[in-house]
Amino acid sequence: MSERERPERTSDDPHRPAYHVTPPRNWMNDPNGLVEFDGRYHLFYQHNPEAPEWGDISWGHAASDDLARWTDLPLALEPEAGLDGDGCFSGCAVVDDGTPTLLYTAVESGRQRQALATSDDRDLRTWAKEGVVVADPPEGVPPDEFRDPYAYRRDGAWEMLVGATDGDPVVLRYRSPDLREWTYEGVCHREPDREGVWECPALVRFDAGDLLVGSVNDRRTVEYRTGDLASGFPTDGPDAGRLDYGDLYAPQAFRDETGRPLCFGWVTEARPTDRQLEAGWSGAMSVPRVLALGDDALWQAPAPELAALRSGHVHRDLAVEGTSRLDRAGRALELVAEFDGDAEEVGVVVRRSPDGEERTEVAVDREAGELAVRRGESSLDGAVADDTHRGTVPVEGPTTLHVFVDHSVVEAFANGRAAAASRVYPTRDDADGVALFARGGAADVGVDVWDVASAWGRG
Ligand code: FRU
Repeated sequence: MSERERPERTSDDPHRPAYHVTPPRNWMNDPNGLVEFDGRYHLFYQHNPEAPEWGDISWGHAASDDLARWTDLPLALEPEAGLDGDGCFSGCAVVDDGTPTLLYTAVESGRQRQALATSDDRDLRTWAKEGVVVADPPEGVPPDEFRDPYAYRRDGAWEMLVGATDGDPVVLRYRSPDLREWTYEGVCHREPDREGVWECPALVRFDAGDLLVGSVNDRRTVEYRTGDLASGFPTDGPDAGRLDYGDLYAPQAFRDETGRPLCFGWVTEARPTDRQLEAGWSGAMSVPRVLALGDDALWQAPAPELAALRSGHVHRDLAVEGTSRLDRAGRALELVAEFDGDAEEVGVVVRRSPDGEERTEVAVDREAGELAVRRGESSLDGAVADDTHRGTVPVEGPTTLHVFVDHSVVEAFANGRAAAASRVYPTRDDADGVALFARGGAADVGVDVWDVASAWGRG
């Protein structure tokens, strides 16, 4: 059967997420064109419609009325010889005086050029390509390392960031009155002494400052910088950090119609290519995250709308010292656990077989201020990633873990400050248990657990 003839939404793979957005079949990478239009959320994404591996890059499309339940829509952009025959790479969506407009990178003959498309249908199903709006990179930037336009309004005009390298990863800034005629304004961010392109720049402006997000060319490092677009962003120190410590890449942030800042990121695979080809699909989106910038910190939380998929709630209060199993099991669960007490390390175990042979630990070391997602025992399959994802998390008072388990995705938020979306591929049918643990002392734990329904209204 050809890839195009595959049945809608393959569902026989036990690792396929149910409520994290995935492509109906085949390959997905970066979220693109995130926008709420007419009360409906649109999630476009880098998509190979022909195979579960990168190639023939088009824009896939899913839409949602509530940020929880999604519908697949037809391809939004497909490569066409003469303009973007080698791929419609990443980009953004804006609403220009009522007209939904995409800016994306048109790739052809080794050149990456910024192009524009508009839609006049309310469902954003069909797009008319207007063509290239920025053909050549500024001096010093190679034409094949110039991509991922991100547009926003500032001081009465449009601005656009483009990811590039000029030896260092850089973000270029352009200005325009109409999204079509662009003036180059210079480098607005540079990461000295690093390799690669600052891919998929995204900017969110808050009262407390500007947030710049980007990914540095390795499918695993997602950076954020907080500062001021006018005076520049730091490259280290307290205002420079990682948006995610797991398998997340190329997140895109946007404001919805109420002005709320949200982001989605691509949760990459952590199993070998041949397994992805066998499975018939590859890549998932994170849950939608709400971003907030306080005076001194970036906060991230899952969008509250996800609660629409919850059922079967239980609450337990437990005194934990060592490991306590919970009387709940599932591959699609949401857990919120708050740990108080003197334990040095606390956490939850998910995708756990009854004997603990397979298990994934999400832990917070409260002494070290570290979040760890331990995958050493996640799977008996020796071919999948087994390293631990680690990152810093500020710890003061009780520790809160908010964890989404969705088949092969474990997406964790610690104290609203650190996040990790990690992939795990347990082999055992019974690896669906949950436990809590406290080490180096005791913890009083209040935990809520829910089952989470499919986002697609079918398995
Ligand atoms: C990031 C990225 C982007 C590019 C796209 C191509 O994952 O490399 O820079 O536009 O993927 O699919």
